[in-house]
Amino acid sequence: MMMSWSWCKTTGRHEAEGTKKGSSSAGRVAAWLLLSPLLVLVVLKTDFLPTVSRTDTGLGNAKWQQQHYPHGPEAVKADMGGSASRLTCNLSNRHSDTCTMEGDVRIHGRSATVYVVAAASNHRRPENSTVTVRPYTRKWEQETMARIREVTVRYTPPPAPFGSGVIPPRCTAVHDGAPAVVFSTGGCGTNFFHAMSDLVVPLYITAREYGGRVHLLVTDYRPEWVAKFRPVLDALSAHPVVDLDSDAAVRCFPAARVGLESHNGMLAIDPTLSRHGYTMVGFRDFLRSVFSLPRPWAWSSSRPVISRPPRLVMVLRRHSRALTNEADTVAAMEDLGFDVVPARPEDVADMGRFARVVNSCDVMVGVHGAGLTNMVFLPHNATVVQIVPWGDMKWACWYDFGEPVQGMGLRYVEYEVTAEETTLKEKYARDHPVFTDPQSIHRQGKAWATFLDGQNVTLDIDRFKAAMQQVFQSITTG
Ligand SMILES: *[C@@H]1O[C@H](CO)[C@@H](O)[C@H](O)[C@H]1NC(C)=O
Ligand SMILES: *[C@@H]1O[C@H](CO)[C@@H](O)[C@H](O)[C@H]1NC(C)=O
Ligand SMILES: *[C@@H]1O[C@H](CO)[C@@H](O)[C@H](O)[C@H]1NC(C)=O
Ligand SMILES: *[C@@H]1O[C@H](CO)[C@@H](O)[C@H](O)[C@H]1NC(C)=O
Repeated sequence: MMMSWSWCKTTGRHEAEGTKKGSSSAGRVAAWLLLSPLLVLVVLKTDFLPTVSRTDTGLGNAKWQQQHYPHGPEAVKADMGGSASRLTCNLSNRHSDTCTMEGDVRIHGRSATVYVVAAASNHRRPENSTVTVRPYTRKWEQETMARIREVTVRYTPPPAPFGSGVIPPRCTAVHDGAPAVVFSTGGCGTNFFHAMSDLVVPLYITAREYGGRVHLLVTDYRPEWVAKFRPVLDALSAHPVVDLDSDAAVRCFPAARVGLESHNGMLAIDPTLSRHGYTMVGFRDFLRSVFSLPRPWAWSSSRPVISRPPRLVMVLRRHSRALTNEADTVAAMEDLGFDVVPARPEDVADMGRFARVVNSCDVMVGVHGAGLTNMVFLPHNATVVQIVPWGDMKWACWYDFGEPVQGMGLRYVEYEVTAEETTLKEKYARDHPVFTDPQSIHRQGKAWATFLDGQNVTLDIDRFKAAMQQVFQSITTG
């Protein structure tokens, strides 16, 4: 089950306004995305197939052409000749459509078209075949995907000897033999959780294997996103990031991937789906190296940091889900023996600097929100305490942060606020559905406005302190 609401759909839409450009025909993708569950696999290989296998018949609107050619011995010959072009698309993943291609790949940014040029050696020329991909990883969320620029992947015959030479276009920039990865930053990357879960983790899964010998080509280019993640992008690619939207060049590559691979769950890597067995623990090691973070391991009874008590970072929010009794909460944590680092939004804004603060800590505490994503910088075996706001939010909070924590080599503790601990009680009577039937608010599509944007939290200090006492003990006594 996917959540019916998300930051991406609500706030993300407004943030995208004004920066949106070059997006095409939002309506068409909606029909396309509604056709789930799709199990579609398209394989195109030099001069013999477009083959398409599928288990669903409702594909009338799909914008690729289905063709079958029996492949004769000459096709195999073309392969062996070393000039084969091959295109494989997987359109059955729930998170993203991806195409992999090799051979003669020509990318024209301005028209968002990727040409995969078939070898000339065969007398039977393939028909043109077209697959369109929105290279972002929230395929199930139409509202978000409608903002993503569509990239057309065209499997095309070689230029005719006396033809106009328009399709496929001539290369104007030939790179160094490294492949390309094409993806969009147009989704929800201004939110740190989405930036990590929708983009950085999938980019790691897709591009890390090239060891820096890869070109990153970005559609819906957001300079502020690229600037923020510059250290990560520099670690993944030795080449400058290309803004494809206005790129007039025809860039040619021996291989390319269009769309990022993304595994089930948030902030997740499934080692069994990763070609190289990547894991979230490995991803965190990668980030630790990118940001030169010194601590691989957290404070524990088996590894005490002799000179100081366990350190706790409190991620504090401002406009919603803020702690109204911040100072009392900090004092209570200090009473327990923690060295407390309060982190306000202005402290968190500089990612590199805050990564070092987080890495110096052994526990992270915060009300559900994007700031908790900074857990990726914690040392192994550290503890994350998620404060779940009022409103039957347990499952959603678990999905975003609880479940990912396990795969990261961290420990997870959840603290669910009671009806006494939410400022909603100042707005609604206790017999209001907000308290008696929170699910009904979810069903009306008002969960975001009511429970996420609409409440602050006043922790019951005794109750919270008791929960945190257990965390302190589990760290210091093993
Ligand atoms: C396509 O993606 C689906 C879902 O992630 C996966 O189960 C399947 O193995 C993939 N197919 C190929 C040929 O990679
Ligand atoms: C293939 O594309 C070329 C160039 O756009 C076009 O002239 C030709 O008619 C197309 N062929 C088919 C079968 O669609
Ligand atoms: C939460 O508290 C902040 C002040 O810290 C205030 O500006 C905001 O309006 C409050 N939000 C709600 C939903 O009560
Ligand atoms: C991780 O935490 C557990 C539970 O406190 C502890 O038993 C274990 O020794 C820790 N591992 C390391 C390497 O610190």
